[in-house]
Amino acid sequence: MTEGRIIGLISGKGGVGKTTLTVNLGIGLKQLGNEVTLVDADFSASNLGVYLGRYDHPVKIQKVLHNEAEVENAIFRHPTGVKAITSSNEINQVEPNTERLREVLTTAAKDSDYVLVDCPPGLDQTVESIIQACDELLIVTMPTQTAGINAAQIIEKCKELHKPILGTILNKVENNPEKELVEREVEMMTESHILGKVPYDSEMKESLFENTPLSLYNPLSEASLEIEKLAHNLAGEKYEPPKFSKFKRGLRKIKKNISR
Ligand SMILES: Nc1ncnc2c1ncn2[C@@H]1O[C@H](COP(=O)(O)OP(=O)(O)O)[C@@H](O)[C@H]1O
Ligand SMILES: [Mg+2]
Repeated sequence: MTEGRIIGLISGKGGVGKTTLTVNLGIGLKQLGNEVTLVDADFSASNLGVYLGRYDHPVKIQKVLHNEAEVENAIFRHPTGVKAITSSNEINQVEPNTERLREVLTTAAKDSDYVLVDCPPGLDQTVESIIQACDELLIVTMPTQTAGINAAQIIEKCKELHKPILGTILNKVENNPEKELVEREVEMMTESHILGKVPYDSEMKESLFENTPLSLYNPLSEASLEIEKLAHNLAGEKYEPPKFSKFKRGLRKIKKNISR
């Protein structure tokens, strides 16, 4: 039996890539041989199940939080081997009782090396209680002023709550200093270390449409490779980039254009 790390992916701002990174990082950690459970704690805009292509599991986290089901019954296994607990999309279920959340996460951590918690945006009481339920936090942001400001606010809150911050993942990076903040600026704004920069990838949308996480849809894309590197970093494993990935990406592009 293991006692896994409970890591919340949090941002302050919505739409920066928390759910995307929860899923793809989770798959990366699983591919390294870890037991991983993903937990949807975004109760009002829950879409972890959709990103996994699996939203039909009958027992959602709300049932567990309201003592109507056991944690074990809410867990299902994705074909990748990653386990997940999803959240309900029903609008009458948006106000959850988060009192039992810590218990849900620690129960999941008993059989997992990693429990990744997909957090909601904002900085309200619910978000605060979710931060409290996690052991460590991974900040997700984008190279924009608004995302940076919201990340800085959430970092301040985590510090106030004495929660360790692992660092910041800068997502949707286009490497265009004329229209986006550079790494150093985000680091200064958030007073946090950038763990990795995940490029903006147009295939992210396609992969979502196909109900297939990007790391499976195109494992050699630059974004997938960066997330794989982050998974190694998190697990303390040495990362060796795959050989000829640039060439293979070019080949894939040509094949895709031909089949259009
Ligand atoms: N690196 C990326 N490149 C391109 N699009 C991305 C990237 N990361 C996330 N997205 C897209 O951005 C949108 C918001 O991502 P999501 O993970 O739902 O954000 P959050 O959970 O923070 O609200 C989704 O349409 C997702 O496909
Ligand atoms: Mg989300």
